Amino acid sequence: MHDAAMNHAFLDRVLTGAQVDVYYHFGVASDDPILAQFRDVRAIVLAGSGDRIEAFARRWSALHDGAEVLALPKEERFTTRYCAGVLFASHGMGMPSASIAMQELMRLVFFLKGGDHAAMAEVFWARVGTSGGVGLPGGTVVVSTEGVMADLGPFRLLAGGHGEYRFDGRFPRDVAEAIVAANAGSGIPIELGRTVAGNEFFLEQFRLDGAICMETPASKQAWLEWIHREGVRNIEMEGAMIAGYLNHWGFPRFAMVCATLLDRLAGDQVTATPDELAAFNERSGDVLMRYLATTLR
Ligand code: URA
Repeated sequence: MHDAAMNHAFLDRVLTGAQVDVYYHFGVASDDPILAQFRDVRAIVLAGSGDRIEAFARRWSALHDGAEVLALPKEERFTTRYCAGVLFASHGMGMPSASIAMQELMRLVFFLKGGDHAAMAEVFWARVGTSGGVGLPGGTVVVSTEGVMADLGPFRLLAGGHGEYRFDGRFPRDVAEAIVAANAGSGIPIELGRTVAGNEFFLEQFRLDGAICMETPASKQAWLEWIHREGVRNIEMEGAMIAGYLNHWGFPRFAMVCATLLDRLAGDQVTATPDELAAFNERSGDVLMRYLATTLR
């Protein structure tokens, strides 16, 4: 873990009790007794929607003899469940929303593990989601090797007076490969690849079907073909930031597993039927659960 990257001026005061940390968007604070039950957290599973979080927590509970599922009461922004060592949390859509979830969850992990680097390093993080495939049919699951922005550069933010902050979006390769290996023989098509995180579903994913469109069929196709040549296999909206923040603190184990809903080389609109979409959605969860079940008994 990278100690110097942690905001000790704030985080250490929470450990000593000089400061109560309010994880505002999750509706819980560091002095809430419920957090004593989260201290054993070994994995954090993130997904965009609260319904998926609820479904994952139920599945995890069923795999653990019906272990109790705890819920944080506030669900206005994010939905959170805790069951058998796994904290399941939704992050909404896009990097601004997901970055709030990440900042508060990283603070929470620091607090729950008492600032102990070895204990923090044992926590596995994963985002399970949906994406647009690039050269892959709908229903393929992509395990990301790197998260980049639409220009294939790293996740960046404006930094007051200093230009920009840049974050390393690489996902640990050994974890990605272990996820693929844990799913050998499952029959689910799985690919490793780079992932673009667009700041927008339409403009920054070069779609032609937005209310605002600034691309032509030719410029869109050229972008898609370029990113495909550069090893990108899917497009979603959070991975570059999530990997970037986790690398910033030096978490060694994390992954992103996304099902593709369509092949962007063939079109822009998601036209799969509700049944197909539900089946595609299930796949990314299945792939992660199979890996989790082998690593966190
Ligand atoms: N999610 C995205 O961000 N893009 C898609 O094309 C599909 C799902």
